[in-house]
Amino acid sequence: MKRASKTLRYNERVWAMKNVVILGAQWGDEGKGKIVDLLSDHFDIIARYQGGHNAGHTVKIGDRKFVLKLIPTGILRPGKRAVIGNGLVVDPAALLNEMKSLEGASVNVSGQLSISDRAHVLFPYHRTMEKMLEAIGTTSRGIGPCYEDKAGRRGLRIADLLDRERFPRQFDSLAKEKATLAKSFGITEELDASRVRCEYEQFAEKIRPLVADTARLLNDAIAAGKRVLFEGAQGTMLDLDHGTYPFVTSSSATAGGASTGTGVPPTKIQAVVAVAKAYATRVGGGPFATEALDDMGDQIRERGNEFGSVTGRPRRCGWFDVPLMRYAAMINGFESLVVTKVDVLDELDKIPVCVAYRHGRTQINEMPATISGLESIEPVYECLPGWRTPTGGISRYEDLPVQARDYLTYLESRTGVEIGCISTGPERNQTIVRSGSKFAKLFFE
Ligand code: GDP
Ligand code: IMO
Ligand code: MG
Repeated sequence: MKRASKTLRYNERVWAMKNVVILGAQWGDEGKGKIVDLLSDHFDIIARYQGGHNAGHTVKIGDRKFVLKLIPTGILRPGKRAVIGNGLVVDPAALLNEMKSLEGASVNVSGQLSISDRAHVLFPYHRTMEKMLEAIGTTSRGIGPCYEDKAGRRGLRIADLLDRERFPRQFDSLAKEKATLAKSFGITEELDASRVRCEYEQFAEKIRPLVADTARLLNDAIAAGKRVLFEGAQGTMLDLDHGTYPFVTSSSATAGGASTGTGVPPTKIQAVVAVAKAYATRVGGGPFATEALDDMGDQIRERGNEFGSVTGRPRRCGWFDVPLMRYAAMINGFESLVVTKVDVLDELDKIPVCVAYRHGRTQINEMPATISGLESIEPVYECLPGWRTPTGGISRYEDLPVQARDYLTYLESRTGVEIGCISTGPERNQTIVRSGSKFAKLFFE
């Protein structure tokens, strides 16, 4: 008896210390910002681990709306530390703009933000490079070319930017190389290297007080019993290794990225939670088996306001894809799913769900590896009845119409993953937490 209660206390303690990754299960824009904001109150530190200002994480708090790009969403919670991990690419101009606009809204950015000395620096020539070779409909922020330089071992990191003595030489030599390359591609737009160098030297002085060895900061905090939430950007199907390559972003958006992108070892990360829309969207090019190219797709775009929060581009809309979700669950190991934007489906008579793919005469359940494979599959749909009742703002599971509950139960049984949380609107309180779920235990019980 004595031993049992001791074990229980130990388990409770381990549970309470859980560090959690929250990431997108689809092609980004799943509503990660809203969910991270909701949960960040239960953590001490919120850390981004990959991507850059290609991300746009929206948080609505009353009549205030924030779209966070480089800065972790946790910055909006007073007193929480927000970390830009080593896995990010940082455009200092974009960072300073974001800091300024948040500070203008009374957010204490300089008191709460830490930037990794090992994160890579994005320069204007990365955007130029992107113009030369871009073919997939990127956000045009220079993200891919900056990661290319990182993998090619010629990138400059925040620590290099802060090195007053060496930075000018390193930058001048890189800028010269890039100018030659641009010329060979017929790009005539000249980069004024000395002006850009001066600008970056000024940026360096502005961010210097915030720069730290964030792997050390995070590991020390964890050792001291603090809790870390890892905020994913983009989504599983945009992951460089596991997404619909080459129509992907250039970083590791899946759960493994949380470790390499922060320096916190996998043994210190205890849970992964994924966010997915009740349907599916994608921005930019690339295969999208369940895309709805008819009126229903337009209806979702309109009701869901599916326009990019960074570029304003219309998002392609379609249906929930079960084989994709099972794949995402396997790659990330998530045990609980947050399903967002259920309210967007309120007016539909029927809702198709893709349960398998047809490839020629055979039915398959796995996502093909190649673009031609992905383009040649046909979704096999099951149609579920819609609820045609407003669900916007519902915060108790029992208050959802029975067809909506049946829809969610159906997704749960098909994907094999619990739906622990349901979002019925952009605001914090427009959320259902299912009591007794792993999700509820992780954050609320
Ligand atoms: P993120 O990149 O994953 O953080 O998602 P975005 O912020 O790019 O896009 C999600 C959009 O949906 C934002 O405009 C959110 O305010 C909004 N949103 C989030 N959850 C819900 C929801 O449950 N219902 C509705 N109608 N909108 C939502
Ligand atoms: P959040 O974090 C949706 C897409 C781009 C393009 C591809 C590569 O808000 O969910 P990139 O500029 O990264 O090289 O573009 O990835 N993309 C996103 N789509 N949400 C995002 O971020 C995205 N970040 C990049 O549209 O198809
Ligand atoms: Mg977004």
